Amino acid sequence: MISELTTLDLSPLDGILEKYAGQKGAIIPILQHAQEVYGYLPPEVLKEISQRTHIPLSRIYGVATFYAQFYLTQRGRHVIRVCDGTACHVRGAAKIIDELGNDLHILPGQTTDDYRVTYEVVYCLGSCGLAPVAVVDEHVEGRLTPAHLIETARSLK
Ligand code: FES
Repeated sequence: MISELTTLDLSPLDGILEKYAGQKGAIIPILQHAQEVYGYLPPEVLKEISQRTHIPLSRIYGVATFYAQFYLTQRGRHVIRVCDGTACHVRGAAKIIDELGNDLHILPGQTTDDYRVTYEVVYCLGSCGLAPVAVVDEHVEGRLTPAHLIETARSLK
């Protein structure tokens, strides 16, 4: 953790903070841009934003934790979202969720130790006709079986 703190390059924040300098209510776009750069919002980035915008760190954390679009921990190179909405649930999503989690050795919402995969459960991906459904990175996989999704997950590098 200490080496992470000392090696993280905060210079990309310069342009972002300059762009929104003096603008009230700019915290959301600032966090969005910072997340685009770092892939998530590391604590040292939030602290730097707080110091340079004079927005209290507690308020920045409040915003970052309120909106689902923001991530406070490093994400995997690949993201698998398994749907457990009603249509998918009645077609066996729970079994898919359990078996994928067992195979990856993580729970929904977690990332594998090697940052290969982040695995999430969501509630309706808008493709109910294909239930059960998952989105692997940006690709929709329908009429899933646990074995098929596990095979796909294992193929991700
Ligand atoms: S409930 Fe799963 S896609 Fe709609």
